[in-house]
Amino acid sequence: MPSTWTVNATMTDSLPPPLPLPLPPFPLSPLSPLSPPLPEAPVLLVTGGSRGIGAATVRLAARQGWDVAINYLHRQAEAERLADEVRALGRRAMTVAADVGDESQVLAMFEAVDRGLGRLGGLVNNAGVVDVNGRLDEMDGARLRRMVTVNLLGSLYCAREAVHRMSTRHGGAGGSIVNLSSVAARLGSPGTYVDYAASKAAIDTLSVGLAREVAAEGVRVNAVRPGIIDTEIHASGGQPDRAARVAASLPMQRVGTADEVAQAIVWLLGSAASYTSGAILDVSGAR
Ligand SMILES: NC(=O)c1ccc[n+]([C@@H]2O[C@H](COP(=O)([O-])OP(=O)(O)OC[C@H]3O[C@@H](n4cnc5c(N)ncnc54)[C@H](OP(=O)(O)O)[C@@H]3O)[C@@H](O)[C@H]2O)c1
Repeated sequence: MPSTWTVNATMTDSLPPPLPLPLPPFPLSPLSPLSPPLPEAPVLLVTGGSRGIGAATVRLAARQGWDVAINYLHRQAEAERLADEVRALGRRAMTVAADVGDESQVLAMFEAVDRGLGRLGGLVNNAGVVDVNGRLDEMDGARLRRMVTVNLLGSLYCAREAVHRMSTRHGGAGGSIVNLSSVAARLGSPGTYVDYAASKAAIDTLSVGLAREVAAEGVRVNAVRPGIIDTEIHASGGQPDRAARVAASLPMQRVGTADEVAQAIVWLLGSAASYTSGAILDVSGAR
């Protein structure tokens, strides 16, 4: 994949040489008569892309010109259906099963994306888990290990592999990483899940630190901190009715949608956010 825009020779005869644009390249829309031909689409990997916020991100990113690799853990059928939706939009798609908390599976996933779609330009570290409400002094070691392994180690493994591919230090051509944090990171979630909150606070720190580490290497890193969003994650925490139950108590008197979070993620991924790095963006309806 070319690292910069290339312009058809017949169009450039009377024009100065094309300037490299900020990376990764993105289609211009609408095209002006002098616009260069569309470049190959940038490639995005969304972890936990089979449903919820991840799936909304996949759909929106595809509409905005990304080719997308959709990672999932169990829900293969949902991931495959979503890949078909992406292809129907004229973009390339692939699905890849991997547990992000397992380093060897993460390495295999990135290699599969390299082979399947080519040079990575974006990563959304979205895969995450909660567990049932409780106090820390009631939580067993297996739960705590799972929380840290999936939510934190998974994001660290994936961010590292993305930097290996995107950073100019490693011969890459730049890119953008968006990590999914949570307002729990600043609220702490006492009595419900301080383990989850702590894992998400670490995501905030990862985002700020890594952004500074790779800022001069063409890689931007940001985090999105959703509030209460209507997805299946609440059911997996034993509260399928959580969104409906708490809606009236929230500042906007409603929960958010996965699409509303995806809008922020996809903006941060793209060239419209070219000077935004190390940011933590609350998408929480003022919560
Ligand atoms: N919803 C909210 O209110 C909310 C609020 C703040 C932050 N967030 C964060 O936003 C992110 C997405 O949340 P969501 O509500 O969309 O969650 P969700 O509906 O429960 O979906 C979770 C996704 O992550 C995948 N996943 C789970 N464990 C995985 C693992 N070990 N390896 C790979 N993939 C895995 C699932 O795959 P399968 O479909 O194959 O199981 C699914 O695609 C999470 O990081 C979450 O912490 C959510």
